[in-house]
Amino acid sequence: MHKPLTKQNRFDAARPEAGMLELGVCYYPEQWPREKWDEDARRMVELGLAWVRIGEFSWSQIEPQAGVFHWEWLDEAIEVLGCAGLKVILGTPTAAPPKWLVDRYPDILPVDARGVVRKFGARRHYCFSSRRYRLEAARITEAMARRYGENPFVHAWQTDNEYGDHDTIHSYSDEAKLAFRQWLAARYGTVEAMNRAWGTTFWSMHYNTFDEVDLPNNLVEEPTPTHLVDYFRFSSDQVKTFNKAQVDLIRQHSPGRPVTHNFMSQNTDFDHYKVGEDIDIASWDVYPMGGLINGRLGAEEKARYLRVGDPDQPAFNHDLYRAVGRGRVWVMEQQPGPVNWAAHNQSPADGMVRLWTWLAYAHGVDMVSYFRWRQAPFAQEQFHAGLLLPNSEVDQGYLEVAQVAEEMAWLPKGEVREKADVAILLDYESRFATSALPQGRGYAASAIALDWYSAVARLGVDVDFIGQHSDLSGYGLVLAPDLVIPDAAFLARLKVSKAKVLFGPRSGSKTHDMHIPADLPPGPLAELLDFRVTRVESLPDYHSEPVLYGNASHPVTGWRELIRTNETVLATFEGEHRPGSPAVIGNDRARYVGTLPRGEFLAKLMGDTLGWAGVGSLPDLGDVRIARRGRLRFAFNYGSTPAAVPAGAEATFLVGDRQLAPVDVAIWTEGGR
Ligand code: GAL
Repeated sequence: MHKPLTKQNRFDAARPEAGMLELGVCYYPEQWPREKWDEDARRMVELGLAWVRIGEFSWSQIEPQAGVFHWEWLDEAIEVLGCAGLKVILGTPTAAPPKWLVDRYPDILPVDARGVVRKFGARRHYCFSSRRYRLEAARITEAMARRYGENPFVHAWQTDNEYGDHDTIHSYSDEAKLAFRQWLAARYGTVEAMNRAWGTTFWSMHYNTFDEVDLPNNLVEEPTPTHLVDYFRFSSDQVKTFNKAQVDLIRQHSPGRPVTHNFMSQNTDFDHYKVGEDIDIASWDVYPMGGLINGRLGAEEKARYLRVGDPDQPAFNHDLYRAVGRGRVWVMEQQPGPVNWAAHNQSPADGMVRLWTWLAYAHGVDMVSYFRWRQAPFAQEQFHAGLLLPNSEVDQGYLEVAQVAEEMAWLPKGEVREKADVAILLDYESRFATSALPQGRGYAASAIALDWYSAVARLGVDVDFIGQHSDLSGYGLVLAPDLVIPDAAFLARLKVSKAKVLFGPRSGSKTHDMHIPADLPPGPLAELLDFRVTRVESLPDYHSEPVLYGNASHPVTGWRELIRTNETVLATFEGEHRPGSPAVIGNDRARYVGTLPRGEFLAKLMGDTLGWAGVGSLPDLGDVRIARRGRLRFAFNYGSTPAAVPAGAEATFLVGDRQLAPVDVAIWTEGGR
């Protein structure tokens, strides 16, 4: 029988034993007959699972009609799962408002950029600015938090589900318009200040009052970029306040239990750090197969990594969400087999579910929960694998989870991920800026940051992510692939820190008002490195320009800047157009690259940059990746041939050994246990 927890030890119970990995699963009792629940719960525990997430799409089952509540089934489900020994993560059900609610208050529904109302029948059909929806979301959250806040089996909460999924951060509703006007009035104080920031003398766009301002959709030409970036900032703030309202209610009625939200990979439609400030643990949903198909790699690499995924995309996001969660990160949904939602949905190679689980742990994740327990034979996701087949037979994912659960016992406890020497700066406002003003079709800031991350990861170097708010102490190197809008406070801290810094193209190219800085880009960054960008050009991918770096010529495409400087020139453009103009420049403290290096050029640039900053690295790991967590060392083989593990002569292997088979994992300590 499950031992009910005291108030005091509840929060501790939600923390896995220091440095240990715990496993969990997403479960939907409302989708299965009651007779299955007990057996499901028993089998989950038997498999070695400690956590189960439920409830996040259950509103119409809880409240089928206005004010008519059916809690019995949820009471019972929590009881069954809890008594079996599982810790419940309860999701607030606000990602899927019920039909009766939407019919009663149609202004809950979001409006797309064409001005078309997005209808009921799937999920995430709400507008963050709908005042009515905010009231309703608070009402159901409070009802749930009151009922289960002190339930001994509820150990953690999840707010909503995947903010931003299905392009739902931006809504162009009347409610959003009204809220946007208020937001602008609060930001600018006077409409003249807004007019100046937006540059409304251009094309006769002047406004007399904030009430004249509309949302930036359905215009004949593009809006002024400041209008658009302000709308992105506003939309981001709406997510923060929407989420915080739920967190506050949960904390009030369920004190001591951690609150999380399950973020998505690669979404930059809102400032995740700001939402992260209000929760205890950041979690995210890991779908590397779809990530590969929809991701940055070219067709040849996609073919090569088809069943293992982009080797760096999951690791990038673990590291990012570790920063968003201020050190605490979970995986709320780990893909267990093929999914249903990408352009193509291939099966992962056998072994990948295990590999992804250990990868998460190596990158600081304390809990990995699989999506989902059993494949659903009905509705939208019937092609989506679970740990069990629809008939409850075990599927491949289940077997791999069982293996992880066994291997877990072989590892020492108490190993935690340490601070890295290298930090990558990811700034959400800068992403808003490039998406408002890309200047070249397909300019993909996310892919560029992932390319930089990947180049460092191939050299065996661990990284942390930082935002402009982050503490810089301890970092020897900051990589800033796209810091378009630098903050004065960040720059001041960077200057007094010990870190060297490499800036990517466009860094410092805009002010907070989305203007070109008074003395040209890189604006205030010129205090660290003296140069000016006098022209930028975007280039189509059928054209490349040669850059001479070291002794080799490397082709670049996509982006090129014309740089004027007296600082040291480390690489030059060598094509017919303005040969000899600088491509990479630097001094003792800072370097700047005015183009988009890829492949060998990027590898060499990152290798040189690590050396310049005194950060140790390994020779190119090819398809192997490594990571460190406390004393533990991990290696992962994404390739199709066996590889040697880069372990020292004295290494003690806890899982695997020096030869790493394809899709395999090795875990060791250097110099004995
Ligand atoms: C996630 C979502 C889950 C499920 C899953 C399928 O984005 O949070 O509810 O739909 O995708 O892969």
